[in-house]
Amino acid sequence: MSTAPAQRSPLVLVSNRGPVTFGPEGEIHRGSGGLVTALTGLASHRESVWIASAMNEHDAAVSHAHDGQAFPVLSPAGGEYLVRLVSSNSEAYDRFYNVFANPMLWFIQHYLWDLSNAPDIRRDEIEAFEFGYNAVNEDLAKAVIEEIKDVDEPVVMVHDYHLYTLPDLVRRAREDVFLHHFVHIPWTQSDSWRVLPSRIREEIFGGLLANDIVGFHTRSYRRNFLQCCRDLMDLDVDFERGVVRYRGREVWVRAYPLPIDHRATRAVAAGSRVAELERELLRRRRDFLILRVDRADLSKNVLRGFSAFDLFLDQHPEFRERVTFVSQLMPSRTDVPEYQEYLERIEALVAVVNHRHGTPDWMPIQLKLRDDLEEAMAAYKHYDVLLVNAMFDGMNLVAKEGPLVNERDGVSILSENTGAHEELGRFALSVNPFDIQELADSIHAALDMPASERARRARGLVEIVTSRDPGDWIDEQLADIRAKRAVV
Ligand code: G6P
Repeated sequence: MSTAPAQRSPLVLVSNRGPVTFGPEGEIHRGSGGLVTALTGLASHRESVWIASAMNEHDAAVSHAHDGQAFPVLSPAGGEYLVRLVSSNSEAYDRFYNVFANPMLWFIQHYLWDLSNAPDIRRDEIEAFEFGYNAVNEDLAKAVIEEIKDVDEPVVMVHDYHLYTLPDLVRRAREDVFLHHFVHIPWTQSDSWRVLPSRIREEIFGGLLANDIVGFHTRSYRRNFLQCCRDLMDLDVDFERGVVRYRGREVWVRAYPLPIDHRATRAVAAGSRVAELERELLRRRRDFLILRVDRADLSKNVLRGFSAFDLFLDQHPEFRERVTFVSQLMPSRTDVPEYQEYLERIEALVAVVNHRHGTPDWMPIQLKLRDDLEEAMAAYKHYDVLLVNAMFDGMNLVAKEGPLVNERDGVSILSENTGAHEELGRFALSVNPFDIQELADSIHAALDMPASERARRARGLVEIVTSRDPGDWIDEQLADIRAKRAVV
């Protein structure tokens, strides 16, 4: 880590999670999740400063050592960034992250609430919004406002569901700012938002509509957002042009499907530790390997994946001892009770399936509860079937990374409710993520597929995944920023 003074930059990125997080000895870890993967290329290739929340006491100490200002940092995943880490009051941050953003908003935006049981909205939830969510949004907004103080015509790119109220705060301080907000998760239909008290809902929509452009991964999330603006806010909406009129301004609503950085992904896959992990994997390999790689998140539909594998083994006993289901899950948001309970249910179901079908020298499901990108890469190279069965998922980058580095013409089983399905569906086996029988049948169809058909599909997937990169994604957004500025 260098301590050179920060330089002024016209492009400001702001998100809850930043590209790096620090350990007790100052060691640097890469931030996890799709958002970080998406922005990494952008931040390291262009002149920009990335403002993010300090995730732990070590981040806070490093931020403090830089007087709360931006500082350059080298990511272990490659790339140098200018980062500014913002510390919030820890109680406020806990309410922001563990009560309001996750689960409240995350569950609304993935249709995860079981409405006859939850959520109950009480004072705790209301206060988590007022004194948690809004407080963290204010802290980050202040850093943004400071960062653009001396910049003419500043452009701020805001990311994800953690920061819906920030744009309005920035707009009030700097009328001339250009605000672009990208939402990395699904935008659900109007009624799912009725869970929130109308005052909170209006603050959220008011915050988002302070942006000049709001972007989503797919056309269907864009349509849902426009419909919400009409149904819930009674606004004037032009569905054709994707424009919402709000308080005398026009907000453009656009779809920009996120590509992966295929060059960087291939470079990671070619690393020496990956090769070592591959040797280990191949040593233990049976005839067939089924793989899933996910955060241990309820939206990923992990339990139904195991139930389908269980059913497949019942219905096709000829595959017993010949196939292993490697499941690499990164524990996530473990301070949220719903996530803790989910992990417990995952472990319990794996034990049941392994007990039902396993033999002294064959464990049908191999569960790896850890975050190890290189281990995932090693497994990507050698799967026969990649299972991505999320109930709902904004994009899903595993569905893109896997086929890119796979060396066996592996077949993708892909939920029709992932953003990636809009692009990759025709070369995958599409599944309804709730239909366990269909999923079991798809596992069989994939393992039984003729080599030529597998090769055709694998080629199709690689072609799509390599046709754009995050540079194109960001260029599309910058082109719209220029176009909208020209209109104004
Ligand atoms: C998704 C979200 C990101 C988030 C990531 C990891 O990809 O869109 O905003 O950073 O999950 O979740 P976490 O809670 O660990 O940041």
